[in-house]
Amino acid sequence: MGYFRVNGPVRLAGKVKVSGSKNASLPIIAASLISLDEVVLKNVPVLLDIRTMIDILEAINFDVEFLNGIVHIKPDFNDVNTNVPYELVRKMRASFNVLGPLAARYGKARVALPGGCSIGVRPVNFHIDGLERLGFEVNIEHGFVDAKLIKPSSAKIILPKPSVGATEHLMTTAAALEGIEVIIENAAMEPEIVDLQEFLKKLGVEIEGAGTGRIMVKGGVKNKKVTHEVIPDRIEAGTYVIAIAATGGEGVVENLNSEHLNSLWEVLEKIGVILKVEKDKVYVKMEGRPKPVDINVSPYPGFPTDLQPQIMTFLTVANGTSYIKENVFQTRFLHVDELKRMGADIEITDGTAIIKGVEGLSGAPVNGTDLRATAALLIAAFIANGQSEIHHVEHIFRGYENVCEKFRKLGGNIEYIGVKEYIE
Ligand code: UD1
Repeated sequence: MGYFRVNGPVRLAGKVKVSGSKNASLPIIAASLISLDEVVLKNVPVLLDIRTMIDILEAINFDVEFLNGIVHIKPDFNDVNTNVPYELVRKMRASFNVLGPLAARYGKARVALPGGCSIGVRPVNFHIDGLERLGFEVNIEHGFVDAKLIKPSSAKIILPKPSVGATEHLMTTAAALEGIEVIIENAAMEPEIVDLQEFLKKLGVEIEGAGTGRIMVKGGVKNKKVTHEVIPDRIEAGTYVIAIAATGGEGVVENLNSEHLNSLWEVLEKIGVILKVEKDKVYVKMEGRPKPVDINVSPYPGFPTDLQPQIMTFLTVANGTSYIKENVFQTRFLHVDELKRMGADIEITDGTAIIKGVEGLSGAPVNGTDLRATAALLIAAFIANGQSEIHHVEHIFRGYENVCEKFRKLGGNIEYIGVKEYIE
């Protein structure tokens, strides 16, 4: 475990290139479990979470090679172990999503129940109810979930909330079940779901509707060798754009899909950031203090919960009071106490953060509590006067590829002290 030492304030400037999407790669790697042959994935970021998903595939006897952002996944159909160890599921909630694909392909699977999570209660009831509708018998015992395929069933599944993970899990599982027709209503509409659909189509699955609230799947994998390039990471992109703006900097964030971040552009323009948005890059410039705004965090195409801590950091130094209502993970405010240690004035009432802008932040020792909170603290440390130490930064290696190098290239004075825990 290590920490970041950051000296501020700094004005971030220059160019930064966005990596492949973590949240698109993970469900696509999980969906490779239903493939009939080798899968090749490109533009996969080198991150701890990706490593965990690869470890899972290796633990169940898939042959995986990950080099230069390219993953080769080959199954050994004779020797697949359908028990996923607790140790791996504990590390990352998204690993739960191998349950349905594995059980669909091999008849049964056992995956540890994902534990609690620092950003709030994150149940898996939508996943389990959906699997039962698709014809699985699901039992939860001693912290493990067992799924057994009884009879593949066509179904119309209405999700109580547009859950990203449940939508991806159920569309992939349905895709593996030959002959069934499944409709998922109130589906999540995130770009990562569209990317997963593109991958499933390449496997020969008949599927449409991703990006809308209604996805239709005709189960059955037909094609053999498949190659797919993962979309850019919109959350990483948004984090760099916010960081440049928050430090009063000027730069270009490249290799993104700007359509995936329309809600961010809208908010940044209200704040007073100068933006020139092109298809695959954005020019950012900020002068003076940000104007206060009201933000409603909600499922796509709304403002993403995964950018909520970062934008909040920017607003701590606004010229007035801002409000952020968190509608996805109502208790995702662990970064607030840390930002307060740096001089921010924030109060939480009924899932809304009230942020009274202060003139400036001051460097302090703080704790990273989760992935995006840690990114937010890094931005705060760049804004703040003096030295900050951000502890528990291992979270950041779960989701930001080459984060130190990228911020240093923009002029960030950031040093990582400790053992490099991320993978090569
Ligand atoms: C995914 C993202 C995460 C992002 C989140 C919301 C990945 C790997 N992770 O997480 O970065 O913050 O979407 O955009 O893509 N819920 C239930 N029961 C369930 C499932 C979800 O009640 O069975 C609730 C959750 O508690 C939450 C809401 O649904 O309030 C949305 O969660 P969900 O979209 O499922 O988040 P994840 O897929 O876990």
